[in-house]
Amino acid sequence: MPDNKEILVWDILVRLFHWFLVISFVVAYLTAEESEQWHAYFGYAVMGLISFRMVWGVIGSKYARFRDFVYSPRAVYRYLKILLAKQPEYYIGHNPAGGWMIVALLISLFVVTVSGLKLYAIEEGRGPLAGGAADEITVISAAYADEVRDEKSTGRERGRGRPRHKENIWEEVHEVSANLMLLLIFLHVAGVIVSSRLHHENLVKAMITGKKKVLPDA
Ligand code: HEM
Ligand code: HEM
Repeated sequence: MPDNKEILVWDILVRLFHWFLVISFVVAYLTAEESEQWHAYFGYAVMGLISFRMVWGVIGSKYARFRDFVYSPRAVYRYLKILLAKQPEYYIGHNPAGGWMIVALLISLFVVTVSGLKLYAIEEGRGPLAGGAADEITVISAAYADEVRDEKSTGRERGRGRPRHKENIWEEVHEVSANLMLLLIFLHVAGVIVSSRLHHENLVKAMITGKKKVLPDA
């Protein structure tokens, strides 16, 4: 029966990438305030995984390629319009809205991990970006020591009359992008649930077995 036919959509590397990414992200998030060492290790794992996925998006199997799932804004608009009219179109790979969600997740993960590396270098003097940050640490601690000395001798409130010590912009970037990830993941999982219901298929199972049924309108 043609409508019961199953084909392999997500190759083994996409599936391993996905579930290792879920584990690494969750552990990196949960260890953020507990253990710097484990936080960095699992953050590196996320970085390795997304680097692989960028390459696989170019040279990987058919449905793994960006070319297959990055649609024009017009196609996304059309897809959403039809979706709202409750007649969703079926795509065997990622649908146009889902495709852009994947791109958003990957970009946001890139920002989280790169800002994490910068932060690790500036605050701890560790990690691959540590060399160039040494000067910055000196600048920050010198400015801070200056302020404290000033405060003690004059009794003035810290920072008044002179610039405050340099704020670490990477900390902001890291925190904001990590929290943006939570929002994107919420939308991503919601999209998976809604899409599974609309088409009466189990997308989570498909991300485990790799196989999807070819529906008549695919
Ligand atoms: C337990 C929670 C999660 C479930 C059930 C889930 C499920 C899925 C499913 C079913 C797909 C395929 C969507 C489709 O058929 O179009 C997918 C794709 C994807 N998910 Fe998740 N996901 C979860 C958590 C996450 C998290 C935490 C991240 C990021 C940190 C993430 C990132 C991605 C990415 C990047 C893809 C694209 C896969 C690819 O083409 O390589 N997911 N997810
Ligand atoms: C997906 C990956 C990552 C996530 C979700 C994540 C998330 C977070 C969160 C939520 C915080 C806490 C911010 C706060 O203090 O409120 C944090 C702090 C931090 N992260 Fe990450 N991060 C990731 C990757 C990395 C990487 C790759 C590094 C560098 C090796 C890194 C280095 C740091 C450092 C140094 C801190 C500051 C710790 C502190 O002073 O308390 N992160 N991260």
